[in-house]
Amino acid sequence: MSRYSRISGTGSYLPARRLTNADLAADLAQKGVETSDEWIVERTGIRARHFAAAEQGSSDLAAEAGRRALEAAGITAAELDLIIVATSTPDMVFPSTATMVQYKLGSAGCPAFDVQAVCSGFIYALTVADAMIQSGSVQRALVIGSEVFSRILDFKDRTTCVLFGDGAGAVVVEAGDQPGILATDIHADGRHRDILCVPGHVSGGSVLGDPVLKMDGQAVFKLAVGVLEETARASLAKAGLQDSDIDWLIPHQANIRIMQSTARKLKMPLEKVVVTVDQHGNTSAASIPLALDVAVRDGRIRRGQLLMLEGVGGGFTWGSVLLRY
Ligand code: ACO
Repeated sequence: MSRYSRISGTGSYLPARRLTNADLAADLAQKGVETSDEWIVERTGIRARHFAAAEQGSSDLAAEAGRRALEAAGITAAELDLIIVATSTPDMVFPSTATMVQYKLGSAGCPAFDVQAVCSGFIYALTVADAMIQSGSVQRALVIGSEVFSRILDFKDRTTCVLFGDGAGAVVVEAGDQPGILATDIHADGRHRDILCVPGHVSGGSVLGDPVLKMDGQAVFKLAVGVLEETARASLAKAGLQDSDIDWLIPHQANIRIMQSTARKLKMPLEKVVVTVDQHGNTSAASIPLALDVAVRDGRIRRGQLLMLEGVGGGFTWGSVLLRY
């Protein structure tokens, strides 16, 4: 009998502090940085984002999203065989954010580790969990994307600081004999490592380099649009399905124009694309599971529908997961 992995519950968490573009523009104006709601909405589709409180780390957001996903799946943390957290903004250099989440969920013993693939992190993590479930070594996994990008933004750089937000999204994935995840497809190309990066590191007790986000927006835009179409088509081909079979496209929420362009290439109307970038900004590894949870909880996504999840991010990394919800 075939063995599949299937999403049995979703959850998400957004920190309480919400900033509209006008709020952010007012904060930035005090630093002498000029921006406007009009510019941000027109170029990105973003209207608001959430920022974590000073005492909140990625693991706090992740644990809350994880708790909600466990509740939706009707299982306890003690029943998990695996915890993976996708994040580029871990609480510490080590231990992993996943081990902190495990502790905060009140469980112990199962393997827990982080995956670092920036905005594609959740797609990578779900791919790893799927492979471990299919191999038979894992029955139930908690896969989380969690970020506090507000900590790595340069609030003097208006070309990047208006784009990102904080949050977490999670799914419980369980083994079963019905699909489930139908196909996964992940890639990387390190030749593009410099167009989106945080070029800092810890050495000798100090932070060296420049530990804030740097991006060549136009280069990112061009690459993102091409690879998002490619990876979606690769997953569809592996599953023997067509773009017209997809019920919902749940892309990484970086920029509405990238999403519109991807939807056009896949011949999908924008009504079939789950869009949360307007309210969340770009939450990197958290954006896909956050969008998924929003559309599951508001009733748009229903059991049996075909979902295309896809992401692209620093590295460059990209990939997709095609699944029957
Ligand atoms: N407010 C007001 N003006 C601004 C702002 C701002 N926040 N940021 C830039 N500008 C100005 C620039 O200074 C420039 O002014 P100038 O013409 O006088 O020099 C003008 O706007 C145009 O700047 P560009 O950088 O050329 O703007 P562009 O149209 O390329 O839009 C953007 C920038 C939104 C970043 C775009 O390149 C983009 O969407 N790129 C995709 C990158 C992305 O979404 N990254 C997210 C992370 S990557 C990922 O998640 C995959």
